[in-house]
Amino acid sequence: MKVLLTGGAGFIGRHVQAQLLADGHEVRVLDSLRPDVHHVRPSVEGLVVGDIRDAEAVDQALHGVDTVVHLAAKVGLGVDLDDMDDYVSTNSLGTAVLLRALGRHRIERFVYASSMVVYGEGHYECDRHGVVAPGPRRVEDLEAGQFDPRCPICAAPLRAGLVTEAARTDPRNTYAATKLHGEHLAATWARETGGQATGLRFHNVYGPGMPRNTPYAGVAAIFRSMLEQGETPKVFEDGAQRRDFIHVADIATAVAAAMVADGKDFTAYNVGSGTVRTIGDLATELARAYGGPEPIVTGAYRLGDVRHITASSERLRDELGWKPDYDLRSGLEDLLKQP
Ligand code: UD1
Repeated sequence: MKVLLTGGAGFIGRHVQAQLLADGHEVRVLDSLRPDVHHVRPSVEGLVVGDIRDAEAVDQALHGVDTVVHLAAKVGLGVDLDDMDDYVSTNSLGTAVLLRALGRHRIERFVYASSMVVYGEGHYECDRHGVVAPGPRRVEDLEAGQFDPRCPICAAPLRAGLVTEAARTDPRNTYAATKLHGEHLAATWARETGGQATGLRFHNVYGPGMPRNTPYAGVAAIFRSMLEQGETPKVFEDGAQRRDFIHVADIATAVAAAMVADGKDFTAYNVGSGTVRTIGDLATELARAYGGPEPIVTGAYRLGDVRHITASSERLRDELGWKPDYDLRSGLEDLLKQP
């Protein structure tokens, strides 16, 4: 296939491009090389420098293309409210400009990088009330070190579990809201054009080529940068926040599988390693791998953070025959070999 890969010069994009080329596809990359991400110009095969919000640049990049993999986005939690319009512009408007052009070019297949953040808090069960959906955590609770959400009905402690794609979406920050908006736009495009859209809800991605020195990076990148500078990783809350860390090469095989799968309309897939880890675990494993100091648990918190979010990737395994090659241990070994 001839693929347009947006955001192909980024951390995940580079690995996706390598996988698609290895699978025999022809890949054109459209990337704006945002200065807050790309401090130096990367060398990327088939790179067209352009912004997805620029209809003319998008139009040119789509010539001869039959499939679009859309990774270009402003990522991360954001520093403060000043980031809000940039998220909406880059992620929501950018996706809309792109989808509109897909319609003009009669392109029928669209793979979209979504995120686990669309769910907000993960799956919780109360012994008395079954599955419940706690709202955003209260500042008073966080200040008091009460990090785990409680049952919204009886305030009892909850058991955290895995979300499936059928779970209610409940974005809790601007980035999350724009990622979900992108899914909705992709579903609308699919319905209106008869095209096929796939939303891949990525878990926390790490691996070779992770970004450095940016406040928009995920926790694995931040801890790695600190350890490389001889500093101690700072674990927020009590370190028991649950996440699933997935190696970027496994993300690339998921994208490649989604790109050639049959389907119609819009389908969402969770993409995780299948192993629940805590942020404390991650800090400890990384510190061990880098021979660095023991992590410090600070008790600090960030308002936009959710407590536990871990997903089941069974649908992706069952329907697309995908499975990850790395667990956290082997993935971190790989990271050490090729930083
Ligand atoms: C991350 C990504 C998000 C992606 C999602 C997929 C970032 C910033 N976030 O969200 O883009 O869509 O995974 O699941 O890339 N923490 C520390 N110390 C630090 C920094 C963070 O303990 O120095 C903690 C946070 O408080 C949080 C956890 O680590 O509890 C994860 O943080 P982070 O990786 O920033 O965000 P996610 O919500 O997991």
